[in-house]
Amino acid sequence: MIAAVSGTAQPRKKLLGVLGGEAASPPPIWLMRQAGRYLPEYRAVRARARTFLDLCFSPDLACEVTLQPIRRYGFDAAILFSDILVIPYALGQRVWFVEGEGPRLEPVRVVTDLARLDRTNVRGALAPVFETVRRLRRELPAETTLIGFAGAPWTVATYMVEGASGSDFAVVKDFAYRDPAAFGALVDLVVGATVDYLVAQVEAGAEVLQLFDSWAGVLSEAAFRRWVIAPTAKIVEQLKQRCPGVPVIGFPRGAGMLHADYVRGTGVDAVSLDTTVPMALAGALQELVPVQGNLDPRLLVIGGEAMLGEASAILRGLAGGPFVFNLGHGIVPETPPENVAALVRLVREGKWR
Ligand code: CP3
Repeated sequence: MIAAVSGTAQPRKKLLGVLGGEAASPPPIWLMRQAGRYLPEYRAVRARARTFLDLCFSPDLACEVTLQPIRRYGFDAAILFSDILVIPYALGQRVWFVEGEGPRLEPVRVVTDLARLDRTNVRGALAPVFETVRRLRRELPAETTLIGFAGAPWTVATYMVEGASGSDFAVVKDFAYRDPAAFGALVDLVVGATVDYLVAQVEAGAEVLQLFDSWAGVLSEAAFRRWVIAPTAKIVEQLKQRCPGVPVIGFPRGAGMLHADYVRGTGVDAVSLDTTVPMALAGALQELVPVQGNLDPRLLVIGGEAMLGEASAILRGLAGGPFVFNLGHGIVPETPPENVAALVRLVREGKWR
């Protein structure tokens, strides 16, 4: 069913219409990590930057890699090229990326580490990112929506405390359970910095914001409410005051049975679903807000009927309501670019019906 838009013109940008609660046919599509190492043209630009953070902080190069997947596939949205770990960097923590291994940070473990972080220079430290956003708004096609983003506080705090991608999250959990007041101060610091960062992205031209909570699924129910829902709700509340009308998509990866509480408790405008969310839950959530997701990124590596079959089932289940086609997590580097092209054709040509 396509919702009627009474009296006014259909919004020019399909993603904005859907995030406003309309169904679209075909639905809009973009993919998490759509700019990245699976594209040869990304690898060529990456080779021109010394470090990954240099790439994020070079408006010329960051703008170019953001546009690459738009040129190749004509996605309905571009997502700013940056990283969730620019927030710890802007707070004064040392952050670097080890080739082939991932991020490293000088960890925050004790109250004195916390005291060294400084929230006052977020806008200054991240000025090149806002310049990238301004250039993107000038260069993107008129029908393409520009998505800004940040990590959600729990996920950013896991990196700040663990110093790397967690495996069992023992260090950050022990910190949060042993000294919730100090951990809460860290989370509040990240909340404030994230609001400043996202408001500045909107001022520069971002039209939608996504909050990535990649590690939301590792917590107990009580800890999920305290460290995922509550800080996200604070961010959404401040964004609603300072940039009303800009939709916020939440991605609480692994939230399982707690998705509906997350949606109601945070006030996000839409929810991005990971691969493990079953159709029945996705459909129930779609009664609350527009949903986005959730093809397994491994199916994009495999391609063919395996990919097209599961993608078609997702489309049949959800595209009758407000729905954004996406993956359940980011594209992986070994994805053949032609499989992405085949997926976009499926969505656009409507052969899944
Ligand atoms: O989606 C996009 O195209 C926009 C860019 C984007 C990147 N990171 C670029 C990137 C976005 C939205 C992110 C978010 C991000 N970063 C998340 C949340 C989403 C998720 O995947 O769970 C997280 C947890 C991070 C932290 C991070 N950054 C990790 C764990 C890594 C290493 C993993 C890897 O694939 O190497 C990064 C590095 C990173 N961020 C790369 C890219 C394209 C790869 C590094 C490179 O190209 O040298």
